[in-house]
Amino acid sequence: MSDIKLIGIVGAGQMGRGIAQVAAASGYQVVMFDVNEDGLNFARDFINKQLDRGVVKGKWEQGFVDSTRSAISQTTDMADLKDCDLVIEAATENKALKFKIFKQLDETINANAILASNTSSISITEIAAVTNRPGLVVGMHFMNPVPVMKLVETITGLETSSETIESVEAVAEKMGKTAVRADDVPGFAVNRILVPMINEAFYALYEGVSDARGIDNAMKLGCNHPMGPLELGDFIGLDTCLAIMEVLYEGLGDTKYRPCPLLKKYVAAGRYGVKVKKGVYEY
Ligand code: CAA
Repeated sequence: MSDIKLIGIVGAGQMGRGIAQVAAASGYQVVMFDVNEDGLNFARDFINKQLDRGVVKGKWEQGFVDSTRSAISQTTDMADLKDCDLVIEAATENKALKFKIFKQLDETINANAILASNTSSISITEIAAVTNRPGLVVGMHFMNPVPVMKLVETITGLETSSETIESVEAVAEKMGKTAVRADDVPGFAVNRILVPMINEAFYALYEGVSDARGIDNAMKLGCNHPMGPLELGDFIGLDTCLAIMEVLYEGLGDTKYRPCPLLKKYVAAGRYGVKVKKGVYEY
């Protein structure tokens, strides 16, 4: 198994910054890359706030927080990731964008490095096929919020080597997570089940079964879910939920996965959820 010390993160959004924080807190050196400098600064400030809150709550010592902070550097130049042993891509859930990023990573990063994608539904086999190292391409699907959620789904593409999958599972374990291996089918395990539930909640809202609060309270109080499905959709990002439904619908070819027109309408209106302070609810 390869010895992983330096981890690159591509994308400083809510997933990328969470992965960066957890990786640094687990003893890895981390380089966070994004083309958008403001996004990187926002992510750095967000991580710092999380770490400071941990000290106030008595969860972490100041020394631990300082070393975690200093283990993370940031860059807008992908070439700064070239010596990474593992790069975890956490960019927007868009096939064309991911293909472009993986082509660039393949040309830029040390040829023995593992390239992982945090994609929530796009085929790892297809992503791997745009590179010259398909055996070293793998899925590492973290859950949001990354510092809290214990699962990392690990996904094997058709060509992923057993050494690659075992290496990233060891990384996930070192990060304090539990890895569950899923096959490379649309939605993998979590989103195959979770996002159709969120989509169904949109249908229930669309058809007037109850109002948004009613639907969310029904699932929170009736099924012990920590968040209702509509609130969770806002939290994940309605644009991401729609992108996942489209992958399920197209990839599995079953009408039961058709995205709800109301979900489409929210996304068309730019109501993506918490990240833009407006989704099903306003924040
Ligand atoms: N980032 C980092 N930490 C966060 C956080 C965030 N955005 N939000 C909350 N936390 C931490 C808090 O600091 C707190 O930590 P401590 O216990 O160590 O103090 C802990 O989470 C609990 O937070 P709160 O008490 O403020 O709030 P809560 O009890 O209401 O829990 C929640 C918040 C953890 C988000 C909870 O509502 C929950 O588990 N929701 C469901 C989340 C879920 O289903 N995630 C999976 C989404 S699917 C996905 O990610 C995959 C995909 O591809 C779409």
